[in-house]
Order: sequence, then structure tokens, then C-alpha cells
Amino acid sequence: MIQHLLSASDLDATAATLILDTATEMAAMADRDVKKLPTLRGRTVVNLFYEDSTRTRISFEAAAKRLSADVINFSAKGSSVSKGESLKDTALTLQAMGADAVVIRHPASGAPHRLATWIAGSVLNAGDGTHEHPTQALLDAYTLRSRLGEIAGRHVVIVGDVLHSRVARSNVVLLDTLGAKVTLVAPPTLVPVGAGAWPADVSFDLDRVLPDADAVMMLRVQKERMGEAYFPSAREYSRRYGLDGPRMRRLPGHAIVMHPGPMNRGMEITPEVADSARSTIVEQVANGVAVRMAVLYHLLGSVK
Ligand code: NCD
Repeated sequence: MIQHLLSASDLDATAATLILDTATEMAAMADRDVKKLPTLRGRTVVNLFYEDSTRTRISFEAAAKRLSADVINFSAKGSSVSKGESLKDTALTLQAMGADAVVIRHPASGAPHRLATWIAGSVLNAGDGTHEHPTQALLDAYTLRSRLGEIAGRHVVIVGDVLHSRVARSNVVLLDTLGAKVTLVAPPTLVPVGAGAWPADVSFDLDRVLPDADAVMMLRVQKERMGEAYFPSAREYSRRYGLDGPRMRRLPGHAIVMHPGPMNRGMEITPEVADSARSTIVEQVANGVAVRMAVLYHLLGSVK
């Protein structure tokens, strides 16, 4: 197994499938009275978060604790030191403390890659800028597999703010690795330059692609990363790219609705859809713990 998980492209189909299979075993443990395994006893996992997070941070913490690791949470928000320097100094400190794994979320794309050159343990990318979020893609793949049975040959439609979405980037890569077909739907201003070279189709017409989807993944409109107007108004955005009840009913009966969270309810998704039987949003969060346990298990198992 690999030492670091920096990008979804670090995983080939065999490695990704192994992680998903292990996650299935980890999930079965959540039903037991004692939810702990001794696997990582004596190992230290540091959560290094330079950017806000609810689900991902709590999920990594729960995953590490269920494997009996010691967990140190380091919230770096508010640091006034220049980014590159503070990251390196912090890395050297973590190294001196003997961290076996560092889970990092950082606003700068590529920060986890730099960190991996400075420390001896494993680095896990928990979201870097607009670049990648590989464990989110793994938990989404896990959710797809548990709901649809098979990922290969399935059609996943990813909708919304693709430009700023590390979730979309990692999902496109992993879904391609696992043999799914992906269509990106977004306003032209929110399609990244170069998306034409990704292993995905691009469409501007949500209503047209929905009847052919096995899963639709709604993305949060990332207002905090938008310096200027990317669309005329929130109302106009919702009308064309939001998922509401009538639009959801265009999906085939078996199709699921996903969202990585946090949601802008009423913007990219209506409460009717988010709270519907097709929605896997809460399930995705639960699956995140099992998937991150599987990732920690395999990555830390490979470094002694
Ligand atoms: C995503 C993230 O932070 O990249 N959320 C998450 O990890 N569950 C998506 C988002 O912020 O929109």
C-alpha cells in the first residue's frame, strides 16, 4: 500500500477496491457494543486543520480513535505567520513529536504534497484549496457501491460549483479509475479551464442529463472562494442548476442524491430533496468514518 494519500490518483482500481472492502468490515464494527480495534495502539495521528471543517475533522478523529490511535487536534486557523514558513515549522514540530500520520486540510492547493516532503510519517490530504479531497471521493464511492451495488458502468452526474470543488476533482479521478461514467453540469463560468481534458462529459443542461443518471452529486456553491460574480443571482442559479422536487422526479426510480455537505439549503438543493428517501447525505457522513478507518489502517500498516 502507498505511504501517503495526497490525491485520488494515488490509488489504482485494486488499491481503491481494497480500501472500500476494508471499509465494509470497519462499518460492520460500528454495530458492535465495543466499537474499538487495537490496531493503531501506540501510534499518533495529528489532525492539522488550517481551514474550517465539521464532518471531515470529526470523522478522521472518530476513525483514528476507533483504531485506538492517540489523536492530537491542531487547529491552525488564525495563524499570522506566512503560509509556507508556518507550515514547514509546524511540520518539523510534528516530526519531532513523532507523529505517525498527519491529516491536513489547507487553503493552499498542494500544501499536503509539500508536507509529505518534510515528515517521515504518512500524510493524508483532507482537502487542499480547490485541488483534491481523496477521502471524500472514497466515501462517495463507498456510498455509491453500497446503494447501487456496482460502480463500473454507472453514470454519476456532478452538479454545480465544479470550479472551486476539490470534491469534484477527486471524484472525477476516482470514479474514472473505478469505471463509472461522469457528467459535469455547471454554468459555463463554473467549469474549470481544462475540464475538457478530464475523463468526464460536460453539459449545461441539468434537465436533459437527469433521466439518464444513477446518482446525482450536488456541490456546494463556495461563496467564500468567489471574489466576483459567477452567476447573475442566487435565484437564477437555483432555477437552472438547483435540485428541487420536480427536477428530482426526472431521475430514474433507483437513482440517489448525494451532497458532501455543508449544504446551502434552498440554493443548490431544496430541503424537500435533501431530506427525501433518495438522499444519502447523512449516510455519506457515517460512511466517512468507516472509509477513513480503512485508509488509516492501510497507510499506517505500510509504515513502521
Ligand atoms: C467539502 C470540502 O470541504 O471540500 N466538504 C466536506 O469535506 N464534506 C465540500 C464543501 O466545502 O463544499
